[in-house]
Amino acid sequence: MADAFFSFFVLLPLILLPILYFIVRPRPVNIPIKNRHVFITGGSSGIGLALAHRAAAEGARVSIMARSLTKLEEARNSIKNATGIEVAIYAADVQEYDAVKKVVDEAGPIDVLLLSHGVFYASELEKMELSEVKFTLDVNLMGCLNMIKAVLPKMKNRKDPLPVSIAFVSSQAGQVGVYGYVAYSASKFGLRGLAEALQQEVIGDNIHVSLIFPPDTDTPGLVEGRKRRPELTKIIISSSGIMKADEVAQKAFDGIRHGSFFISCNLEGIALSLATAGLSPQRSFLMAFVEVVAAGIPRIVALCFQCNWYRSIEKWHKEKKFNLS
Ligand SMILES: NC(=O)c1ccc[n+]([C@@H]2O[C@H](COP(=O)([O-])OP(=O)(O)OC[C@H]3O[C@@H](n4cnc5c(N)ncnc54)[C@H](OP(=O)(O)O)[C@@H]3O)[C@@H](O)[C@H]2O)c1
Repeated sequence: MADAFFSFFVLLPLILLPILYFIVRPRPVNIPIKNRHVFITGGSSGIGLALAHRAAAEGARVSIMARSLTKLEEARNSIKNATGIEVAIYAADVQEYDAVKKVVDEAGPIDVLLLSHGVFYASELEKMELSEVKFTLDVNLMGCLNMIKAVLPKMKNRKDPLPVSIAFVSSQAGQVGVYGYVAYSASKFGLRGLAEALQQEVIGDNIHVSLIFPPDTDTPGLVEGRKRRPELTKIIISSSGIMKADEVAQKAFDGIRHGSFFISCNLEGIALSLATAGLSPQRSFLMAFVEVVAAGIPRIVALCFQCNWYRSIEKWHKEKKFNLS
């Protein structure tokens, strides 16, 4: 027993930590926010607006983009009232590359690109129009690609040698598929592949990629999305709490500052990130240690969640059949 204790708590860290310190890639980085240009899509509402408030409060030069000019003006006023800082506003649809390119050219070089725009239809695929599925993918996934394609040339050719960031607001539904989120999860899982590949392509230019995974967050978008949520989706995610948008924004900036590839926002999110670490990059050798040592535990937790969800689905179908007969 004493031998096992010694091996696990002393020998294992002694051997593993130096190895992990040596192998983790990309290497740790510090990305300053103060006096940098932070450009936020979806910055007129919800998480994007909270990110804009935080960036302004941290002394960044902030630009926000969304479609509705009225909402953008309201956002600009609320940030001015809270921080005294005037943010730049740009009206454009992320689906339209030419419009996005024009905005990006006007806004000037960007140091932190935060992609927080998004649409959310919770519904079984069968009940969704294909046009809604396509719209979800076009905004959430293609919209990010349009933005990055427009921003990257200037970001790569910047004169400022400091590290810069591209951060995606994904979702916990981008880490695990949940009933009713077929189109939404497809769009958010797509961001992970995009981010992993992009990080390899831009690391040579000192550009650091982050994926933020918020849980349900109190925003106008969530209020809208909840109206259509299928009954089973509500049952399955009933155990998850709701975060405030400014708490998510704080976690996001803490992670971006350290160039974290995965940014979790709460305890459940950390467990999800451990369970889905896979081949994702990890800069922190301490987090890598936790991932390696805890590898089996999150899998057990994940299996318990799946058990719970599938039992809810079985029960729901049984009750539905019983009510019909
Ligand atoms: N709230 C949650 O529970 C939650 C949880 C996990 C992840 N997320 C993710 O967090 C992000 C923000 O969500 P939220 O809840 O803050 O939503 P929200 O309150 O509805 O805000 C969405 C923002 O995106 C903009 N937008 C939507 N479509 C756009 C388009 N085609 N082009 C440009 N801008 C567009 C909206 O402005 P306009 O309508 O004026 O364009 C608005 O500024 C989304 O990516 C969402 O998937 C949210």
